[in-house]
Amino acid sequence: MAPVTLEETGAFRGYLVLDHAYQLEILQNRGHVWTRDSRWYRDFAEGALPDHPLIPQIAYRRSRLYAEGMEHSRLSSPGNKALAKIDLLRTRTLIEDLAEQLIASFFPAEGPGEWNEADILDQYALQLPLLVMMRLMGMDEASALATGTAIHEMLSGGPGAHRAAADLDVRMRALVEEKQRAPGPDLVSWMHHYNRQMEQPLDAHELSEDVWLQIVCGRGGSNTWICNTVLELLTNPELNSDVIAGRCQMEEAMNRVMWVNAPVQNLIGRWATQDTTLGSYPINCGDMAIICLAATGGDPMMMSTSFDVSRTNRSHLAWGAGSHGCPVPDLATLIVRTGLEVLWNRLPGMRLAVPKESLAWDLPYMARSPTALPVIFPYPPTSPMNGQQWTAQHRFLSNPPRPISTERKEQPSEPQGRLPLWRSLVAWWPKR
Ligand code: HEM
Repeated sequence: MAPVTLEETGAFRGYLVLDHAYQLEILQNRGHVWTRDSRWYRDFAEGALPDHPLIPQIAYRRSRLYAEGMEHSRLSSPGNKALAKIDLLRTRTLIEDLAEQLIASFFPAEGPGEWNEADILDQYALQLPLLVMMRLMGMDEASALATGTAIHEMLSGGPGAHRAAADLDVRMRALVEEKQRAPGPDLVSWMHHYNRQMEQPLDAHELSEDVWLQIVCGRGGSNTWICNTVLELLTNPELNSDVIAGRCQMEEAMNRVMWVNAPVQNLIGRWATQDTTLGSYPINCGDMAIICLAATGGDPMMMSTSFDVSRTNRSHLAWGAGSHGCPVPDLATLIVRTGLEVLWNRLPGMRLAVPKESLAWDLPYMARSPTALPVIFPYPPTSPMNGQQWTAQHRFLSNPPRPISTERKEQPSEPQGRLPLWRSLVAWWPKR
């Protein structure tokens, strides 16, 4: 454990928790000592925090992320039940198709060169998970375009970030209302379905907060995981040749990254609700603990003689743990693995365009990846496919049962027009 401040000015005080056992103790929270509710943060409550890009990421929202106990279960229930309805086999097809379209867009319209260049972060890793999540949420192409723009702008932290965040809230609310009027084969409609069965149903604001959380969480961890695995493979020739030759599954390479370059480096979001201790360290009520997942691979206990690197070890805490742990590791793994497999399949000759040492890195408050990941690759032996010809019959979830009271309105909303291909969305995607 190390007492730290996240700002050179001395603001954002907390304890950086490096030890795996202490990390688990906090995340599992068996003694109900810790909370994810940032209103407990003493420095926050006392107004001691400066204006800072971290504030929107830790400021309290009425969502499951900041709730505990029964309230956490209530707020998570419709979302988690809806996520469990996803047909992962069909979703793999969706991910493959979007991945193919993104890769096809790497090549200049005037025709490919002998060597071609792309920024894997900007042109692939940032886009794929977000496109998948928006499609699963049942957005049409126009609202996905607007939502994608708002998310990019909000997370850029630029002058338009506050306006974009407000715009995003309005869009999430509109999506929730639209799916209540006209449910279809999508996550939001299934959330409504399960919500109607609850004793204390979520209101429209709470539902839209969960839609927001799923989209933003899905984007965050997945894009850094894709990026950091690409980097690991391109700088580790032995691992890369094992993956290409099929001696090592892509998922093993992804698991290695969870240890050596965790996609989410720090969980900034646990506060003590009483005076306590961690081992011999005294902690005061209102203190912040930062769970340093980046330290997992360097923990001497995890690297002790009982730690056998030849066996698959998934005891890292990259998914978090306890009640706030990631609810969908299977879906997230599918998105990242499929994205990487399609990339390796299509561009087997890919290499870094610059030396690894010259890559710039984002400040690792929470997620950490290079600010750009330029790669070069020869024109592929088989040209990238430009998307399947899907019909409206392609679904990733079934239709939820019709609610009795609104029977007349319940015509399933089928994907319209060019939605299944999302070609214009992939082509348009904003460049950072
Ligand atoms: C489809 C993709 C994903 C979705 C929809 C998703 C969704 C979520 C949600 C809703 C939560 C909040 C759980 C709660 O507080 O009850 C969460 C937590 C978390 N997710 Fe994911 N996630 C995705 C991908 C990922 C990936 C790829 C990673 C990292 C490799 C990741 C790491 C985490 C972690 C560490 C937490 C715990 C946060 C904490 O304890 O403070 N997630 N995720």
